[in-house]
Amino acid sequence: MKFPNLLIQWYLQHKRDLPWRHNTNPYTIWLSEIMLQQTRVAQGLPYFLRFTERFPTVFELANASEEEVLKLWQGLGYYSRARNLHKTAQQVAFEYNGVFPKSYKELLLLKGIGEYTAAAIASFAYNENVPVVDGNVFRVLSRYFDVDTDIASAGAKKEFTQLAAELLPKGKANLFNQAIMEFGALQCVPKSPDCQNCIFNDSCAGLQKKKVAQLPVKSKKLKVRERFFNYLVFSDEQANTIIQQRTQKGIWHNLYEFPLLETETATTDAAILTLIQNQSFVSNAITQIELGSPETIVHKLSHQHLNIKFWKVTVTGRLENGISWESMQKMPFPIVIFNFIEKDSFQISKKVVNLKDPKRN
Ligand code: ADE
Repeated sequence: MKFPNLLIQWYLQHKRDLPWRHNTNPYTIWLSEIMLQQTRVAQGLPYFLRFTERFPTVFELANASEEEVLKLWQGLGYYSRARNLHKTAQQVAFEYNGVFPKSYKELLLLKGIGEYTAAAIASFAYNENVPVVDGNVFRVLSRYFDVDTDIASAGAKKEFTQLAAELLPKGKANLFNQAIMEFGALQCVPKSPDCQNCIFNDSCAGLQKKKVAQLPVKSKKLKVRERFFNYLVFSDEQANTIIQQRTQKGIWHNLYEFPLLETETATTDAAILTLIQNQSFVSNAITQIELGSPETIVHKLSHQHLNIKFWKVTVTGRLENGISWESMQKMPFPIVIFNFIEKDSFQISKKVVNLKDPKRN
């Protein structure tokens, strides 16, 4: 039996029961595909369930605020996906009357939909004969056919798309595309795949040439950028704090954070203390500065490592634009900040109460 048929047969026996496979609704297929980019199914699944419950159709998503969409996305990372998702939902809801375009070509006309997502929707929802090419597909095809093109190179996408298009059995795009992705996710995994127990162990060129561990070829990423963040968690006599929205380009756009002192290099705590004493975020007098987390938290993003410290800065009087911890509940924060808030907000409030009663300090 040839590669595509064997693959489909394998899929029908081994596929996971995933909610976005229960129907051919382009809205939920689109949602799942955006969520699963750079994200594992186990991580994306609870988000998918929460989104479809809160936004059963593209209209609820379109009519929500960006802040609510970002809040529901909190923790999934790559937040530009959520902002683009929201904009695309508005385009579909208000310009297309809520009806997703019915072909690959027309789907591509939507602002937030690129080649991969258009192909996934067109094939999964409408069974259009277009191949999908994602990381799983690169891996499966490069190994099975021993293709050593650098998948990070300019021409790789075209080459693999052409190969996938030649393999795709006409009329079975839905099955074939899901099958090859599922096979990459479950069997032909990046590290130590179980090739002895693989349906292709007598026909895989990569296995025959002992090259599975070297394929796919991918040139090294650019160096990661180290950044040094010091967050100032102010606390006034009402236990209010200050947060600000990240409006600049780059990471965490439109999410909230505490006032930030970023330094070019790793800096001593003594130097940071001086910076905090000279900060210009608030004009209140500072009565206490404490390190909020004993260790530097290293938060790894794809191209940046953030070295983060939280500093609890107690001030006199009332903070201008102060906000209570309760009213931060609905706002979207980067997960590393949210985790700090969850863990520490109660303690901070308690400490301020103690400050008012010096005997208990
Ligand atoms: N990864 C990306 N798309 C997927 C899908 N539809 N099912 C499972 N894993 C995926």
